[in-house]
Amino acid sequence: MWPNAEHEQTVPLLRVADLRVEFDTARGTVEAVNDIGFEVSAEQTVAIVGESGSGKSVTALAVLQLLDGGRIANGQIVWDGQDLSAVDKSRMRGIRGEDIAMIFQDPMTSLDPLYSIGDQIVEAIRLHRKISKTEARDRAVELLGQVGIPDARTRLRAYPHELSGGQRQRVMIAIALACAPRLLIADEPTTALDVTIEAQVLELIRDLQRQYQMALVLVTHDMGVVAEMADWVVVCYAGQVVEQGPAGKLLTDPQHPYTEALLTAIPTPETDKSQPLGAIGGAVPALHEMPPGCRFQPRCRHAWQDCTQPPPVVRLDGGRSSRCWLRAPAPTESRRAEPEQELA
Ligand SMILES: Nc1ncnc2c1ncn2[C@@H]1O[C@H](COP(=O)(O)OP(=O)(O)OP(=O)(O)O)[C@@H](O)[C@H]1O
Ligand SMILES: [Mg+2]
Repeated sequence: MWPNAEHEQTVPLLRVADLRVEFDTARGTVEAVNDIGFEVSAEQTVAIVGESGSGKSVTALAVLQLLDGGRIANGQIVWDGQDLSAVDKSRMRGIRGEDIAMIFQDPMTSLDPLYSIGDQIVEAIRLHRKISKTEARDRAVELLGQVGIPDARTRLRAYPHELSGGQRQRVMIAIALACAPRLLIADEPTTALDVTIEAQVLELIRDLQRQYQMALVLVTHDMGVVAEMADWVVVCYAGQVVEQGPAGKLLTDPQHPYTEALLTAIPTPETDKSQPLGAIGGAVPALHEMPPGCRFQPRCRHAWQDCTQPPPVVRLDGGRSSRCWLRAPAPTESRRAEPEQELA
């Protein structure tokens, strides 16, 4: 269980603990998520950050029990005090949308090309609210206005391909807000957008978060976005949380070498966002080829022979924690030694 001292006073809205998610593949069973845990309080923004393949989307989908072909092999997902593994499918459908809404990573696959955006928003509203089509349409107009789409009543008739990427993402946000959820999970909501539109969409999400008094889980691999938006940061690597803590402290004084490396890779406006983070040498290991011990060890500039053993999750001040031998209470002389390896 990952500590989060800021939350200890209140029951968190969402608690994910010791999460392990497995998929059966041609190469056998793989663990896409091995040990992920974090908490989200009401109205808080938690960023989940990490390179491609670190398990961010799988974690988000596990929370909503939308894993396609995967299963939760261990751990707990507790929503407002209720263990979601114990709720039936119809209750889960209610929680999805009404309590927790998600903006998926790819807006083009989430919107149905065959239906107008008005029909899709109305359907999302009527799935959860017993109101007439006319009332739902009025609410859809209101929502489109709130997400900044001008001439909303006319635009309801538009099909997804008639909208720009930024407008499609705004429609996805409108659908997510249809039932005024208490938690919005936004999985890379701006990756497909250019920098100016990205800034506008993030600003919109932030405004609506205040207006709707929502908590926000923001999945991203952009540390610049994290710095702008997050209260709490959960850093994932190869299916595990390697560090988490309050954004201000974590970003200025990272306690895990992977966080440190991510911070040196903060994209500039010129960075090609479709490319992986280039500043960290090497790549996230494949699921069936996890190194023994610390999973980041093959890429870590501080790696030492002890790192072939699984590192402990070390609790630090202010609810922070780091999964690293460097932070273990009594480091050996060898661990204190200067970095043995430079970045690959
Ligand atoms: N349906 C699946 N079957 C098998 N493996 C899967 C499946 N879905 C995800 N995975 C694997 O789980 C791991 C985590 O994937 P996930 O999509 O959560 O990564 P991510 O952190 O969201 O990456 P990105 O930044 O690219 O979106 C990856 O190695 C991925 O290949
Ligand atoms: Mg993803």
